[in-house]
Amino acid sequence: MSATGAADATTVPDIMARKGGTPLVCLTAYTTPVAALAEKHCDVVLVGDSVGMVLHGLPSTLGVTMEMMILHGQAARRGVENALLVVDMPFGSYEESPSQAFRNAARLMAETGCAAVKLEGGESMRETIAFLAARGIPVMGHVGLTPQAVNAFGGYKVQGRGEAAERIGRDALAVAEAGAFAVVLEKVPDSLARSITAEIPIPTIGIGASPACDGQILVVDDILGMFTAFRPKFVKRYAELGSEADAAIAVYAEEVRARRFPDESHVFADAPKSGGKETA
Ligand code: KIV
Repeated sequence: MSATGAADATTVPDIMARKGGTPLVCLTAYTTPVAALAEKHCDVVLVGDSVGMVLHGLPSTLGVTMEMMILHGQAARRGVENALLVVDMPFGSYEESPSQAFRNAARLMAETGCAAVKLEGGESMRETIAFLAARGIPVMGHVGLTPQAVNAFGGYKVQGRGEAAERIGRDALAVAEAGAFAVVLEKVPDSLARSITAEIPIPTIGIGASPACDGQILVVDDILGMFTAFRPKFVKRYAELGSEADAAIAVYAEEVRARRFPDESHVFADAPKSGGKETA
């Protein structure tokens, strides 16, 4: 039995067992209907702190709060039955100490019903990840480009080129040794992602990394063409819902102005027609 109560729901050990196997399909979701769509096709649904940028219009993930993660985690939970639900720990909720991280991770799990949390950082988070893992909190790590450190990096730059490769390799290893069940590798060179994937015993989940990773993750609004403020090279658009929505709203506006909407099929008579059923 899993956290959701669904008999065949995906568990943390199921994800770990996929190391070197069929690639793990992971996608973000922040609302009930999108989580329900994602979970039909994905092993992992992540309520990423990218929610701040894609749904709330924030300039980075730094302004995301515990309250936002809890609200969106609860919404996603209502849509997810079988996939593993992971919720991001927002900036400032875990870096201070292992006990701060435990308090906030436990709150995320208790209030959203997620099965695991994700936090950013490698070597510097070793002690924190070990502290959480030893207390029953499954942790997904995140190394390479860690967006919460965008100011320290001076932008959303590729990490781990040249001599920096060694540091990212050490970060991934530290996360695995500390007891994380999987690790996201973001925006690192293909060759580095391949060697990390070969060297560490837990699944690597790539985003702008390598097809050799044990799984892939992307932001759902990116792949659907709903978030268009910028488009990293690693994003593949599988739909253009943003432009479809734009066209649909334009037609709605035109029809309202021309009094073509609503028409008689959308309005109510004084009394329902006898025998006829009126929809809500
Ligand atoms: O916040 C997020 O959505 C993420 C993933 C895309 C890895 O961290």
